[in-house]
Amino acid sequence: MKTLLSICTLLLIFIFSTSSCTAKSINKQGQIKSSLCAGCHGKNGIGVANEFPNLAGQKSAYLQKQLLDFKTGKRNNATMNAMTQTLTPTDIKNLAVYFSTLPRHSSAMSANSINNHPPKKNKVSIIEFPEIVFSSMKGSGSIESFPSEIVATGGENMLYTALTPDATMLLSTSPSTDTVYIFNAKILQRLAIINVGKAPKGVKVMPNGKFAYVSNQGSNNISIIDLNTLKNIGAIKTASGPHNVRFTKNSKLAYVTLQGGAGIGVIDTIKAKMIHIIPVTGITGAHNLDLSGDEKIAYVRDFVHHVAVVDLTSEKVLKMLTVGNGHGGIDVFPNGKFVATAAIGDNFISVINTKTLTINNIQLGTASHGIRVSKDNQWLYITLPKENTIAVINTNNWQVEKRIAVGKFPFWLAVQGNP
Ligand code: HEC
Repeated sequence: MKTLLSICTLLLIFIFSTSSCTAKSINKQGQIKSSLCAGCHGKNGIGVANEFPNLAGQKSAYLQKQLLDFKTGKRNNATMNAMTQTLTPTDIKNLAVYFSTLPRHSSAMSANSINNHPPKKNKVSIIEFPEIVFSSMKGSGSIESFPSEIVATGGENMLYTALTPDATMLLSTSPSTDTVYIFNAKILQRLAIINVGKAPKGVKVMPNGKFAYVSNQGSNNISIIDLNTLKNIGAIKTASGPHNVRFTKNSKLAYVTLQGGAGIGVIDTIKAKMIHIIPVTGITGAHNLDLSGDEKIAYVRDFVHHVAVVDLTSEKVLKMLTVGNGHGGIDVFPNGKFVATAAIGDNFISVINTKTLTINNIQLGTASHGIRVSKDNQWLYITLPKENTIAVINTNNWQVEKRIAVGKFPFWLAVQGNP
């Protein structure tokens, strides 16, 4: 009897210790899987927008049942029905346990956060990110999305990035591997790696969503990616050093910056051919460009310190403006009132008033490169590659509202609604 008792005790201790072990490892696996959910339910299980329920601190049995019901179709929601198809019953259990252990309030953040970025100075919210925004990190080979702050790693040298108009896919160039990565933008999962030409720089998606153009600066051509099949379907020959393109809204033309010095090339997208070159005298290597709302004027940023205002009809340079040193992005506000440009070799960005063509320089960090405004014109986002932050300027008062710590060398930005 005595031995039986002690065997029982031993057995109990054994069961207890193994079960507490597995409880711990279940959480870990759930945590890893939960990166699939963060785009909507938040990194901490707090929904990133009103339509996404909080999962943090919910009862695990309830979560498990909901997930199983989504999987079998007993509970009906197109997104969640699709999300649960690839989850095994074990995944579901792990996820349910993991989310049930997270604190219920978003202010109690981060103990469980998957990514080891430095603590954020400010809480990122949908106020400053009314539409989804992505930034590519050249130094850490990653993409980060806002406001959800999910991070996708595993790409080398992520440089330029672009979003499809319906915000379902995100493309990013990797000039060190001569490839383009394509991600599912909702969950930042990689869908494809596509070989392109040499040293691909800018990538842009046609407004009709059918194709993407990748500017291969090293092979003097543009690769065309079919976004239906995710295949490289051919190339358009350009002059020296194609760096980035800007499509017209009807998707019929594309203007390409020819950093080798020729100016800007005009591409007929139906013929898939460069049909003309507009010289831009007075600049040193066309780097990035954007168009006015009526598409009659191109604002061309070089890699020294100029913005040329080019009349595309007369092909005349209307004005040459001096901005910060080095290269950077350039963005025309959707309301047409301002053009903002960054400067990698300077400590300010420049905001050009399109009516008066006067410039307001805003002091900001030690280097800036990517620059894009929100679709509603209110928030100007700027990547600061040396500080590893993204600054958010409120255009009501031109003050920096937030500085968000991100990965290494944030390079470019893709903003839904402002390609
Ligand atoms: C693209 C957005 C999206 C993603 C990604 C997503 N969900 Fe959801 N989820 C939703 C929406 C929307 C609902 C609300 C569904 C409804 O109204 O029935 C929901 C509901 C749920 C619910 C039910 C909550 C409740 O209170 O009843 C659970 C549990 C859940 N999701 C878990 C997950 C998990 C786990 C993942 C990752 C594996 C995930 N979701 C990924 C959008 C998403």
